[in-house]
Amino acid sequence: MRLGLVLFAAALAAGGCKKKNNEADKGSGAATATGAATGAATATGAGEATGAGTAAADPKLVERGKYVATIAGCVGCHTPMGPQGPDFSKAFAGGMKVTEEFGTWIGPNVTPHPETGIGKWTDEQILAAIREGKRPDGTMIKAIMPYMFYAGMTDEDGKALVAFLRALPPIENKVEKGDIKLPDMPAPQVPRVDDTSDPVKHGQYLASLMHCAMCHTPMTEKGPDMSKMWAGGFEMKVPPEFGTGVLWSSNITSHPETGIGKWTEEDVVAAVKVGVRPDKSPILGPMAMYVPLWSQMTDDDALALAKFVKSIPPIEHKVAKSTFKPAGPPPGGAGGAPPTAAP
Ligand code: HEC
Ligand code: HEC
Repeated sequence: MRLGLVLFAAALAAGGCKKKNNEADKGSGAATATGAATGAATATGAGEATGAGTAAADPKLVERGKYVATIAGCVGCHTPMGPQGPDFSKAFAGGMKVTEEFGTWIGPNVTPHPETGIGKWTDEQILAAIREGKRPDGTMIKAIMPYMFYAGMTDEDGKALVAFLRALPPIENKVEKGDIKLPDMPAPQVPRVDDTSDPVKHGQYLASLMHCAMCHTPMTEKGPDMSKMWAGGFEMKVPPEFGTGVLWSSNITSHPETGIGKWTEEDVVAAVKVGVRPDKSPILGPMAMYVPLWSQMTDDDALALAKFVKSIPPIEHKVAKSTFKPAGPPPGGAGGAPPTAAP
């Protein structure tokens, strides 16, 4: 089974390059922030949602939620593609469409628009979608949405993320449903704690929100091979417009020869925030695409993530070298223009 995760990421990269656009979007996002809050409040009147106004009114909570959304990469799958990459004027408004071998998935509209988005969902319903993969009508969300990895999100971060989503401008954008054929998968029961006093544990928490293991675990016919978690070898295909060749996710366990056992913590930070290896060669595909988002991590968080990654026990697993050649310039130099539409 091959997931085209890389597709959304490649798209993200394409958008990340368009710094000018992003800045324009950011501007409009800021301008409509108040409008968004009002919009959400109006939606509340129509539905049973509560607390939208209050949540949006707490800028600190919204700011934290924005950070959680940024490292968790939500915008990458929930923003439609325009002719030149993602259309950030519709950030979070859904419509990103990716065809896999086993059907097509479409990122839904997660702005607070009452009819075409999630404006009528309660805070609890939104959080259940994110952490448990459950919709208000009881149906399961397909696991392309990384709820399996968001399952351990703390109540605090979840509340902040919901406040952020509610503060987004409600964008009217009716998105059709995908037809991806994946079995319903219950979210794992994991403790929802973020122990910030221990960098390795905090780093593990961040790694789950950033769903590193989703790509860095080899995929088999029966699903991910958990005995080789973090040991890479997930084959990722990229549509021709983004480049040619195949990407193999790397072994990021601390095995000295087949993994990254010889890397320092700083090397891991550079891989995640800048998108380069110790020899300065660019890390391509989804990693590069995430750079505009992940470069916004705080130094403390990036170091904690690196400490966790360095603590992963070695697994000997030689992964083929990627043959991917990007069609355009590498997006790593995007300058960190955040593709998140900030309220
Ligand atoms: C790898 C791509 C991907 C990422 C990253 C992602 N999502 Fe999703 N999300 C999806 C897809 C695809 C669906 C719909 C799946 C289906 O058709 O069942 C979905 C569904 C949802 C839904 C249910 C909406 C509805 O109308 O059914 C919500 C809410 C949601 N995502 C919020 C988020 C948030 C918040 C984040 C970040 C914390 C996020 N998503 C990150 C791909 C993604
Ligand atoms: C959407 C898929 C995806 C996600 C999520 C992802 N990676 Fe990667 N990663 C890849 C791929 C594919 C490569 C190989 C890129 C190449 O060959 O140029 C890679 C390469 C790397 C490398 C370079 C290793 C080497 O030996 O060159 C490191 C380090 C890394 N990833 C760490 C992480 C960490 C830490 C996270 C979570 C914060 C993460 N990745 C999340 C797909 C992903």
